[in-house]
Amino acid sequence: MKILVIGGGGREHALVWKLRQSPRVRKIYCAPGNAGIGELAELVALAPDDIVGLLRFATTERIDLTVVGPEVSLSLGIVDRFTAQGLRIFGPAQQAAQLEVSKAFAKQLMQEQGVPTAAFATFTDPIAARDYVTQVGTPIVVKADGLAAGKGVLICQTVQEAHRAISEIMHGRVFGTAGDRVVIEEFLEGEEASFLAFTDGTTVLPLASTQDHKRIFDNDQGPNTGGMGAYSPAPVVTPALVERIVNEIMLPTIQGLKRRGITYKGILYAGLMIRGASVKVIEFNVRFGDPECQPLMVRLQSDLVEVIDATIDGRLADVSLTWNPDSAVCVVLTARGYPGHYETEQPISGLDTLRQWQEGVVFHAGTAKTGGQIVTKGGRVLGVTATGKDISAAIATVYQAVAKISWPGMHYRRDIGQRAVGRSDTPL
Ligand code: AMP
Ligand code: GLY
Repeated sequence: MKILVIGGGGREHALVWKLRQSPRVRKIYCAPGNAGIGELAELVALAPDDIVGLLRFATTERIDLTVVGPEVSLSLGIVDRFTAQGLRIFGPAQQAAQLEVSKAFAKQLMQEQGVPTAAFATFTDPIAARDYVTQVGTPIVVKADGLAAGKGVLICQTVQEAHRAISEIMHGRVFGTAGDRVVIEEFLEGEEASFLAFTDGTTVLPLASTQDHKRIFDNDQGPNTGGMGAYSPAPVVTPALVERIVNEIMLPTIQGLKRRGITYKGILYAGLMIRGASVKVIEFNVRFGDPECQPLMVRLQSDLVEVIDATIDGRLADVSLTWNPDSAVCVVLTARGYPGHYETEQPISGLDTLRQWQEGVVFHAGTAKTGGQIVTKGGRVLGVTATGKDISAAIATVYQAVAKISWPGMHYRRDIGQRAVGRSDTPL
């Protein structure tokens, strides 16, 4: 079969790498892809928000299956458009994507379904928002309602800071129309985990446990990023917790959508805050996480095409996933300046020394090939991903590989996976 993967980050490189291993796949296209993906798939110069262009391409090339990486395509209704034309596509429909597109929608649904989440209030009037903050006090979290590339969340320690955040989002429109409405919520303490599951709208099939590292610097310092590294399994997500997360969070959420007439098909990703026996949802995403997808694809042994087919056809109840028992760690290498304005066009050296690497894969994110040289092209540039018999072994191996790569201004965290070291009770 012919597959089209949409997106061009580390997540999509990991998906293409995994899909290529399926005996059913004959050819993969990727729009727009990156330099690393270009070695496995034919690149198509179409952006993920060019729904009309992508639809035309898939129709002309008779694509058998389209796999969507980023939320932007989903938020624009790519699944509805493709499905209406009789094209097979993996991901939730536009209405279902509201779970990520509107934090207010997600919060409302969680409230209705009794899904545990931070206490919150929603405002379109900045004065009412400010009054609320004055009344409830700090610390408090101010969020732009809409999509803001992971940046629309401000954690405020003082009332003054929170008032300023409301002004910047609602008057200053620093996140554009995403800030027409704000969600103000209780500050949650604990350890974060990313819980991903396939769902066909009835069955929830969890992926292996994983944890992301959001902040730019070691020890969770500095601003939030799209993710600086991830590992799997994540011992904080114990087997007992998995069962509770499925029953108390994932199933009630897809049932809440069903009550609205929406059948959710695709990946449902819950960002969780875990503290002892308490698990609360921070946010939902309607797609694979990036970088979480990278260690997950390296560990997944099942045929991804089979699982995607079962999801689309509503047969997930008959599927189980098999995982490599080893641990996997992904370290993201970023460009100077990220997550702010970052440098590009820096030549990357050392990639050749890892071509025959047995213990891992170097997934590309923001890279391009110019005149035979691979250069940086995005904020997150590479996701170096290794496996090991346990988390410590995977960490040692991944950092040995990272040490071989360099470009001017390259940055990475040195503490990826450390939280898991020495913790027993290892789940899937
Ligand atoms: P979000 O885009 O909602 O996932 O938020 C981005 C990051 O902000 C999360 O991964 C958390 O690290 C942090 N965050 C968001 N909401 C809260 C909250 N209510 N309490 C504590 N931290 C939060
Ligand atoms: N790594 C966080 C995300 O994909 O949203």
